[in-house]
Amino acid sequence: MIKIGIIGAGRIGKVHAKNIAMFVPEMKIKSIADPFMNEETEAFAARYGIEKTTKDANDLLNDPEIEAVLICSSTDTHSKYIIEAAKAGKHIFCEKPVDYDLAKVHEAIETAKHAGVKLQIGFCRRFDHNHRAVYDLVQSGKVGKVNIIKISSRDPEPPPVSYVKVSGGIFYDMMIHDFDMARFLAASEVTEVNAIGSVLVDPAIGEAGDVDTAIVTLKFESGALAVIDNSRKAVYGYDQRVEVFGSEGCAQNENDIPNTAVLSNSEGTTYGTAYKVMWDRYTGAFVAEMQAFADAVVNDKEAPVTGMDGLYPVLMAAAATKSLKEGRPVKISEVE
Ligand SMILES: NC(=O)c1ccc[n+]([C@@H]2O[C@H](COP(=O)([O-])OP(=O)(O)OC[C@H]3O[C@@H](n4cnc5c(N)ncnc54)[C@H](O)[C@@H]3O)[C@@H](O)[C@H]2O)c1
Repeated sequence: MIKIGIIGAGRIGKVHAKNIAMFVPEMKIKSIADPFMNEETEAFAARYGIEKTTKDANDLLNDPEIEAVLICSSTDTHSKYIIEAAKAGKHIFCEKPVDYDLAKVHEAIETAKHAGVKLQIGFCRRFDHNHRAVYDLVQSGKVGKVNIIKISSRDPEPPPVSYVKVSGGIFYDMMIHDFDMARFLAASEVTEVNAIGSVLVDPAIGEAGDVDTAIVTLKFESGALAVIDNSRKAVYGYDQRVEVFGSEGCAQNENDIPNTAVLSNSEGTTYGTAYKVMWDRYTGAFVAEMQAFADAVVNDKEAPVTGMDGLYPVLMAAAATKSLKEGRPVKISEVE
């Protein structure tokens, strides 16, 4: 068993802490740090057997007993903490995205590489049972050569505008997962990105300088094409589907629903709506990515989602942002 520390005790920090305490016996959380540490988080820590709480992340970065850290703080702190943790010789799991600034992403990845520590990025959807099943079918060769990828990714509710303002925009915050999923499924790098967007859900999102509805098309080195659509609001819950169409067939999945009860009556046959909360929709994926991180660290394996996997979606987000602004397709080489 290795001792770990968590930086950032917000929503995702607590999800990972709970999952580790319940489902990852190889890791024991020694400390959790957050500058806004409060009684509620202290009680949370006590409930899940976390020894120490602190307002200062340096307490855990300087603790020689701690072998690995989870960076779950706000995005603008990720690259700084990757660099500090790597220099302190800790293995690192860092939430997505690594940073909005490409120079900082490169510096963080290089520092971790130079320090010889593992760096895993939190693209949890790679571990989702439905998406992984499509990936496995593609990898097995059953759909042949990949020609078209389609990803629909729609949230049940838009986030508060205060969040939108600091999120980096829909491409860095939301579609970043789909950029990762597209290159994961294509097993090829993207060369060109074309984005269109609208404000159709919440005018306040437009006033904050973002769009809430977007469609992006991608061209890959392999010649494959992809289309991703995002909406910040789907009234029927979390809509998360992927499809891979190839020379020999097509693999696709459907949404997860909380239960399989079906109502049939004179009006028709209905299923329940999809999950309404991200933590419920991706419960298994969040657990599996932590188990994979523990496996990489304890058994000295390569992290399953590397620093470079963290870089490419940021490049794609930069290209999509530029494409939307300039109204033209943007090559990855223009933003690299
Ligand atoms: N993989 C996913 O699906 C997923 C889901 C949610 C969030 N995230 C990512 O996780 C990160 C956190 O998101 P969240 O929803 O938990 O946000 P949150 O606001 O709930 O939590 C962030 C926490 O970081 C703390 N913090 C701020 N500055 C800090 C610092 N300098 N040092 C330590 N802690 C600091 C805040 O006090 C807060 O408690 C974001 O980068 C987000 O993109 C990923």
